[in-house]
Amino acid sequence: MDQFSGKAVLISGGARGIGRAVAFLFARRGAKVVIGDVLADEAGATVAALRAEGLSARCVPLDVSSAPAWSNAVRETVDWGGGVHVLVNNAGILVRKHIETYSEDEWRRVLDVNLTGSFLGIRAVVPHMRGSGGAIVNIASNAAFSGHPDPAYSASKWGLRGLTRSAALQFAADGIRVNCVCPGLVSTDIIRGGRHVETMVGMTPLGRMADADDIASAVGYLAGDAARMITGEEIIIDGGFTSGAAYWKTAVDADSYR
Ligand SMILES: NC(=O)c1ccc[n+]([C@@H]2O[C@H](COP(=O)([O-])OP(=O)(O)OC[C@H]3O[C@@H](n4cnc5c(N)ncnc54)[C@H](O)[C@@H]3O)[C@@H](O)[C@H]2O)c1
Repeated sequence: MDQFSGKAVLISGGARGIGRAVAFLFARRGAKVVIGDVLADEAGATVAALRAEGLSARCVPLDVSSAPAWSNAVRETVDWGGGVHVLVNNAGILVRKHIETYSEDEWRRVLDVNLTGSFLGIRAVVPHMRGSGGAIVNIASNAAFSGHPDPAYSASKWGLRGLTRSAALQFAADGIRVNCVCPGLVSTDIIRGGRHVETMVGMTPLGRMADADDIASAVGYLAGDAARMITGEEIIIDGGFTSGAAYWKTAVDADSYR
């Protein structure tokens, strides 16, 4: 359980949801965890919960769309944690609108947070990983493999897959691995209120939506030594949904295959 002992892990959007579960996973495996988020109160509460377990954690204010904010977060991580060995680009937002109702500002904000934010994070940490090595895990989505009702969300997550592969190639010689986790439905705040959720769960081959720990375990795997030969890769975690669930369920319901 001390797999990440002596390592510092910086997690964007770690105040709640998937990022919070990722923070607990790394901290329970011995890491010093830094949560960067725009939600100061929630981030503070998550740090308090981690410390209540005797784990090592702190938070820094971070809006991932700001390069100076990244510089500050990375500097604080290095000063407190003795380096930055793992970066988890997890912060993300969603706007439930169609193209014709999307404003330019909304479009740019989703791209700024979900895609540019990850670029800025990678650019900020690699000088500290070069030489000693490191691992970066980007949280994309299964929306990076299909169209998503939110066009900017889908574009940002497809972009994040591309960024993952480019960064993996660029930093391989530096001993920095860059991978991507692509969740489907996960029971967090971002999907609350979505009227489609129950139907989608009904179409999911494994019969349920993921919880945040299902995603965190893949992040821990990709960041750890067991994945030392894996870079530029994507893991879809959606209970089989992207494998062709719509076609499958439609065919089964129509009783077309016997
Ligand atoms: N929950 C799902 O069904 C699902 C599915 C696929 C992908 N994802 C992705 O997983 C990631 C985590 O989402 P979640 O489900 O935990 O949602 P969430 O809304 O619970 O958590 C997102 C976190 O990101 C933070 N955040 C938002 N904008 C930020 C910014 N500009 N700077 C720093 N932090 C910011 C929020 O404050 C929050 O703590 C996102 O990238 C999301 O797109 C989620």
